[in-house]
Amino acid sequence: MEDRWYTASAPGKFVILGEHAVVYGKPALVLAVDRRMTCSVRFGPRNTINGERVDLEKQPHLKYLTRNIDHCVEFLTRSRIPVGSGMGSSAALSAAAAMALRALQSIGYEEKDIVDDAYGAELYAQGSGSPMDASACVHGKGITVNVPDTDRPLWTISRGERTWNVSDIDVPDMTFVIGNTGIKAPTGPQVDKVRRFITKNHFAADIMDEIESTTLEGYDAIRRNNVEHLGRLMTSNHKLLSILGVSCKELNKLVNAALPFSYGAKLTGSGGGGCMVALTDDPQKVCETIKSHGGTPYIVQTGVQGARLENGDNEDPVVDIIP
Ligand code: MEV
Repeated sequence: MEDRWYTASAPGKFVILGEHAVVYGKPALVLAVDRRMTCSVRFGPRNTINGERVDLEKQPHLKYLTRNIDHCVEFLTRSRIPVGSGMGSSAALSAAAAMALRALQSIGYEEKDIVDDAYGAELYAQGSGSPMDASACVHGKGITVNVPDTDRPLWTISRGERTWNVSDIDVPDMTFVIGNTGIKAPTGPQVDKVRRFITKNHFAADIMDEIESTTLEGYDAIRRNNVEHLGRLMTSNHKLLSILGVSCKELNKLVNAALPFSYGAKLTGSGGGGCMVALTDDPQKVCETIKSHGGTPYIVQTGVQGARLENGDNEDPVVDIIP
């Protein structure tokens, strides 16, 4: 039995515009960031995570990804992506584990196969959602979802009545600062909350339409490098997400604190806690104000590579490949 380690990593992400509405087939814009999740795998006598014996029933992402493997698997994971914070930690784990497990089994793959694995794991674990996070964490750089007339299509994914067309976009040369509230808020319950809102409120469809036009305008602003307009659209998107009920007082506090030093700011990801993002040309000021309002700031680099194998022919797990 093969007992060498195989290691892969995948980046986290933030959503510039369009989260939640994307679940209903609306457009979204997403960038990968320089905070990665790393996962090493090898066959072993029992299932373990970071040396601790584990029941995979309690690890639905990993259970799904190992469903066709009839050996036990040892996993080592390391993350610089804050967990449960809207930055794609579970999609990045699914992507890195999927890639490492395929390498372990000598199963060939293309980027789309890893997206299918990672999205399958996300759906198995959280029950609903779009393939946006999985696509962003696998592809890296920048993606659009359901933006019409893009010139670099990547893949199309359908589930039930929904279809998501994912395309590659040029990463804008803009500075973004993330602010983490420190409150963990898993995606599934937030997606369910929006679903309940939609079934109860007849004007929810109007909000979804407004998020759609905000996102499409934002795509145009990115292509024109119009940072002021993109910022305004981000702030409008935050207000629309607040109406949907997925913001919280800690997110609003960080957004409001960042706004005087930013072109715009909004929650990013599923909300309810987790992170906000500000578009700014004064990242130090934004970091200071996020800190003084109780958050943890990260200046993120964008334009990063997607999921990748890390150790080639190396026999050892990659202990710390993260800068
Ligand atoms: C979470 O990062 C993004 C959501 O739109 C859920 C999804 O697209 O699956 C809230």
